[in-house]
Amino acid sequence: MKRLPKDLIITIDGPVAAGKTTAARLLAERLGYCYIDSGTMYRALAWKAIQEGIDVSSPTMLLDLLARTELEFRPGPERLRVLVDGEDVTDALRLPRIETASSILSVHPSVREELVRRQRQLGIGGGVVMDGRDIGTVVFPDAPVKFYLTASPEERGRRRFRESPHGTGSLEGTLAEVERRDRRDMERPASPLKPAPDAILIDTTFLSAEEVVKELESHIHRKLRDPRDFLLA
Ligand code: CDP
Repeated sequence: MKRLPKDLIITIDGPVAAGKTTAARLLAERLGYCYIDSGTMYRALAWKAIQEGIDVSSPTMLLDLLARTELEFRPGPERLRVLVDGEDVTDALRLPRIETASSILSVHPSVREELVRRQRQLGIGGGVVMDGRDIGTVVFPDAPVKFYLTASPEERGRRRFRESPHGTGSLEGTLAEVERRDRRDMERPASPLKPAPDAILIDTTFLSAEEVVKELESHIHRKLRDPRDFLLA
């Protein structure tokens, strides 16, 4: 089997809790690539906005905030660590109120434009697996290998509930919030969540993380055996 080039960009998009993060992280580890979780950028901006009491429905205020905030993203094999004005806030970004705020602010085209610019900078040298909502469609439309993961809404709600901090919320509440965020992502005019035309679709409802990664790897190797796919990239 041919060796995998060291500089590919592999994109993984999909709705909330479709299994992107676990699969992308494991895949990056196996390939010796960096894993970049683009959602972290939206969450970091939401964190800073909440700290400063800024309305996340105002793109003008968010752009102003972005201009005077130092956001540093440090890609690594484990996860993207984020420093906001020098402070590592990575561990605070999973809180439910940050999640909701990141979903609301990600509808603004001007905010997305600025964050997409930074995502492209991080991925430019290749050797990355990047996950998000618009990575295969907008951020790296020429990436040679693209995946779109999905799972049933019930299964995704259950997964997110299991991951949520102990004692917060209910299963019903989590399901409803997952649906609200999906709707926002899919219905926004700017870079709506949808599979790229050349993305490989994988339903993870009945698959373990290990099975998902195996499937991703076999698609990548199949593509590698067919060099035409790479000439198109
Ligand atoms: O991990 P989860 O799927 O819950 O969310 P995430 O990837 O951390 O992203 C947080 C929010 O940022 C999502 O609800 C999306 O609305 C938004 N996002 C986006 O619009 N575009 C991306 N490339 C990544 C995230």
